[in-house]
Amino acid sequence: LGYHAVMELLQTSPASEPQLIGIRENRITRAPLMRCVQDTRAVATAINNHDYARAMQLRGGSFAEAYHTFNTLSQIFPRPPAPGQPRLRLAVLNAGAPAPGMNTAVRGAVRLATDRGHAVFGVRRGFRGLIAGTGDYIQHMDWMSVTGWATEGGAELGTSRKIPNEAQLEAVARTLEQYQIQGLLVIGGWAGYQATHMLHSQRHHVPAFNIPIICLPATINNNLPGTELSIGADTALNNIVQAVDKIKQSAVASGRCFVVEVMGRHCGYLALLAGLASGAERVYLPEEGVTLAELQADVEVMNEGFRQGKRLSLMIRNENANPVYTTDFISRLFEEEGHDLFEVRQAILGHIQQGGDPSPFDRVQATRLAARCVTFLENQAGKPEPESACIGLQHGHVQFTNLAEFPRLIDADLTRPLDQWWLSLRPIAGMLAGRQ
Ligand code: F6P
Repeated sequence: LGYHAVMELLQTSPASEPQLIGIRENRITRAPLMRCVQDTRAVATAINNHDYARAMQLRGGSFAEAYHTFNTLSQIFPRPPAPGQPRLRLAVLNAGAPAPGMNTAVRGAVRLATDRGHAVFGVRRGFRGLIAGTGDYIQHMDWMSVTGWATEGGAELGTSRKIPNEAQLEAVARTLEQYQIQGLLVIGGWAGYQATHMLHSQRHHVPAFNIPIICLPATINNNLPGTELSIGADTALNNIVQAVDKIKQSAVASGRCFVVEVMGRHCGYLALLAGLASGAERVYLPEEGVTLAELQADVEVMNEGFRQGKRLSLMIRNENANPVYTTDFISRLFEEEGHDLFEVRQAILGHIQQGGDPSPFDRVQATRLAARCVTFLENQAGKPEPESACIGLQHGHVQFTNLAEFPRLIDADLTRPLDQWWLSLRPIAGMLAGRQ
């Protein structure tokens, strides 16, 4: 916002209409300041006139939806089903690495589906549970079974990166038939998307797979197609920034350079956003790679800085930024070339990034997406050719992308989407660190 506000000022004249720089639909926007003030006052006027429906509408698209979801989830018990209401049998499972917010999403789905009269079966340990198919792995989940899950990190149902092989696909089909599952919700990351895509591709040969399947993005990596943000990435970013803030205090005290390694697989989202949030002077991304010439230039910039009284340097490296220039290599190089000007330490943050209770943002989005997943399954179940999809947030709106599109949207080797919106933030990070 600061960057765009300055850009606005630089191209404005005293006669220009004042603008408000804001974020709408996950992108920076500008709007005439006076119109924004009027719109804000209109909400207060509607409330004073007891026109609550208009006040809700003026608050923006997702406000009313969030209000209804909240009302359902905060009931003590589900409402009795309406006569003639279709009652489905749905299954929910996590797949992929643990991501904070998985529990929140399961709770939302179980309660909202139960409230609409459906039976929800929780599958333990991801696709392993569907392959095993026994009662140890698959249990009916009622309203109270998810009490307290909204705020808990980890994954109560368990998760795994298991992707069924051909023989195991038969076992999955048998389990779905045995429990008469009419819709499947998979909450998770890359492995979950791959496995569900396999099931969906086989739907014309295997009747048990001809059911609606919906994937809800949950991975700290934020490397999934069909969504700009995945559940868990915000919490991981908070974890990283809290740790880096502490590391920075230590670095300032001793005049050091820290090279901090963060997760993300082949996606640099966590590294870049952590760099922006913590004021790092350099971020090493897998999307850009690392060269020796760049590292040499970085040492020179650091040497000059420390000579002039700089007290710390902070570099953030994605775990896969380069296979040769590892965190250890970069740290040793800097140590050697920094001579007596500064010392270097490395910090590999590791699994604290996967843990922790989900942030408010992740909780809200997990619940919002889970609600829309239940509606999707309801709308598709029972159709002769039901659709399957990945749900996601695109330009601030909930969108569905057909699961069949999955291979077209990704770089399968690098396990990340072809289009990554956040790469547009790179120039801001570079500029703030004093680079071209
Ligand atoms: O996929 C999530 C993730 O945390 C990655 O960022 C990381 O590379 C990987 O999982 C770690 O895997 P594991 O928990 O199996 O060590």
